[in-house]
Amino acid sequence: MRRYILSALVLLTITTMIYSCQSAEQIKQDMYFANGRDLYVKRCQNCHGQKAEGLANLIPPLTDARYLKKNKNKLACIIKNGLNEKIIVNNREFSEKMPAQSDLNDIDIAQIIVYLTNSNGSKQGMYNTEAVTADLKKCK
Ligand code: HEC
Repeated sequence: MRRYILSALVLLTITTMIYSCQSAEQIKQDMYFANGRDLYVKRCQNCHGQKAEGLANLIPPLTDARYLKKNKNKLACIIKNGLNEKIIVNNREFSEKMPAQSDLNDIDIAQIIVYLTNSNGSKQGMYNTEAVTADLKKCK
């Protein structure tokens, strides 16, 4: 009997550990999302719009979930160094210049990416600072 109680307790502890570990990861993602949203308002909204809808043929929307997924490893470079090339977003062509924001550090960029890729129809989960640091080493 005692052995059963003991194994039930062990099982319960393990389950609790796994559960709290998952929610710690979720809490971290939620924090990144909230900070990313604040940074978006300060640094991006002027151009890309309150609902990330973009502006006519000048500024692309940030609502193309497929674009964001396909170019996920390039987002850090786009945010940090700006962009100046012809791109297709939501089946439309854009070619105006986006300025660099080189004062943003890796954690800011990770938070912005978590916000962008988990709003406006995207649900891509966590993106951490280490991934941003690695992405930035590969900018063209
Ligand atoms: C001064 C206006 C301006 C600001 C500020 C700006 N962008 Fe952009 N953004 C642009 C333009 C213009 C393009 C298209 C660039 C091109 O075609 O080369 C673009 C393209 C992009 C793209 C790739 C295409 C897309 O729509 O998915 C992403 C991602 C992006 N911007 C994210 C951001 C984020 C995040 C911020 C804030 C940190 C930001 N931008 C700030 C003007 C701006």
